[in-house]
Amino acid sequence: MSPFIIAIDGGAASGKSSTARALSERFNLLHVDTGSFYRAIAAELLRRKLTPDDLPAIRAALPEISLGTQVNGRTAHMKIGGRPIDTAEIRTPEVNATVARFAAIPEVRAALLTYQRGQADVARAHDLRGLVMEGRDIGSVIFPDADLRFFLDADPVKRAERRRKEGLMDKVAERDVLDNIRLRESAKGAIMIDSTNLDLPQVVEKISGIVAEKLT
Ligand code: DC
Repeated sequence: MSPFIIAIDGGAASGKSSTARALSERFNLLHVDTGSFYRAIAAELLRRKLTPDDLPAIRAALPEISLGTQVNGRTAHMKIGGRPIDTAEIRTPEVNATVARFAAIPEVRAALLTYQRGQADVARAHDLRGLVMEGRDIGSVIFPDADLRFFLDADPVKRAERRRKEGLMDKVAERDVLDNIRLRESAKGAIMIDSTNLDLPQVVEKISGIVAEKLT
């Protein structure tokens, strides 16, 4: 049986992470947070004393970085050089401040493309029914043929409010032009879920109904 693939795209504070986690539990799917992968690569490049401006050095470094995956519970964690990268390392102020610019580098995105598609094999190897992958370009670039593609959206005022509550104000800075272009592409042909007036359990209920129908 081929793995069942759900793509969830949306901007910062759209609720996609919590939604993806809940779906992975409910439907026995690998949870793949692709933002954490961009963060792990950024942390590794910073560790090598590179900044997003050091393009030639970044291009030279990328092929040397060997990527693997460790699954904890049902969540995929990136391994670099055989070492699992933990949450604390990818949530530092340095990573927060630079990850959007590292993620805008085409070679960085290319390096992650096959890795992200390979998560389908990781799901299979762990006897999971498939995967739920969240990000900005999953439905448009990584898995355009996903079984289900969702796009989570919320009113900008509501998203700013959620960010404040979660103490994620620095995330405002990440909403660069590139990000918006990617988001618009991913929204095309996806099932739009507007969470402005829905709380997390309601979003999960709504999406779960659609998933359950497709899975049976
Ligand atoms: O969702 P997040 O804040 O953990 O994402 C970290 C950074 O990676 C953010 O700048 C957006 C970027 N990103 C991306 O460009 N494409 C993805 N599929 C996921 C994240």
